[in-house]
Amino acid sequence: MSYIEIKNIVFSYQKNEKVLDDVSLNIEKGEHICILGHNGSGKSTLAKLMVGLLVPNSGSIYIDGVKLTEETVDELRKQIGIVFQNPDNQFVGVTVRDDIAFGLENRQVPKQEMEELIDKYSHLVSMENFLDNNPEDLSGGEKQRVAIAGVLAMNPEVIIFDEATSMLDPKGVREVMNVVKNLKDKTIISITHNLEEALLASRVIVLNEGKIVLTGTPQEVFKEKEILKNSKLDILESMKLLEIIEKSNLKNKEKIEEALWELSYTK
Ligand SMILES: Nc1ncnc2c1ncn2[C@@H]1O[C@H](COP(=O)(O)OP(=O)(O)O)[C@@H](O)[C@H]1O
Ligand SMILES: [Mg+2]
Repeated sequence: MSYIEIKNIVFSYQKNEKVLDDVSLNIEKGEHICILGHNGSGKSTLAKLMVGLLVPNSGSIYIDGVKLTEETVDELRKQIGIVFQNPDNQFVGVTVRDDIAFGLENRQVPKQEMEELIDKYSHLVSMENFLDNNPEDLSGGEKQRVAIAGVLAMNPEVIIFDEATSMLDPKGVREVMNVVKNLKDKTIISITHNLEEALLASRVIVLNEGKIVLTGTPQEVFKEKEILKNSKLDILESMKLLEIIEKSNLKNKEKIEEALWELSYTK
């Protein structure tokens, strides 16, 4: 039994339009997987199904052996945290501090412990100086950081990051990716259309028009240039260089190619 089992999920928002078409996927405890796909391929829909915000037309989802249903969703939700793509939809508090505290209060975490958790996780996402600010006054990237802190503070077994770095600047992306990389004891599902981000995962699943078209290690997946192209995904920048070098007459071609491959996969 895998920790998360997604079995033959079909989902549509409207009739005659399958947004997810027979998606099956097993995720092991502690795995870092990446769901990669172009805009509109169904990634966020899959994430919402996994946390029970949407109900599939057919198929089923099991978490830790328990089927996700209306009856089990509240209990299972405690095991899964999600950082949504659009951070505006996830703020409830008057201050950043309230916001990070929200889930903890619901869980009746003692005040002292709560303070420590807020302190720890606001630091981790470099938002410790914003604790008394109103979340509405923050930039998109800052909101994303706060949302991440709020989810981490709850210490769920699984964390879904749905394009959680989309509003960050390159430095912010690196910082947040480092935080994610260090969540070694967690099951991480990162959703992105950014191939560079997929390099961090141990397994990549490529979604195109609601179907899984590729699955494998980043190395395996990034070699499938045709399938990536058909899925409207670009190849890695370093791979573009590789292509140029392959066509060239450079001396030491092999050595350069080797170095570039290595560079691509240094985590
Ligand atoms: N609430 C909704 N109502 C109707 N269609 C939707 C809704 N949300 C998403 N869709 C459609 O479902 C498809 C998949 O969307 P989504 O899961 O958000 O893709 P992704 O996250 O990969 O960009 C798109 O065609 C999108 O327009
Ligand atoms: Mg999305």
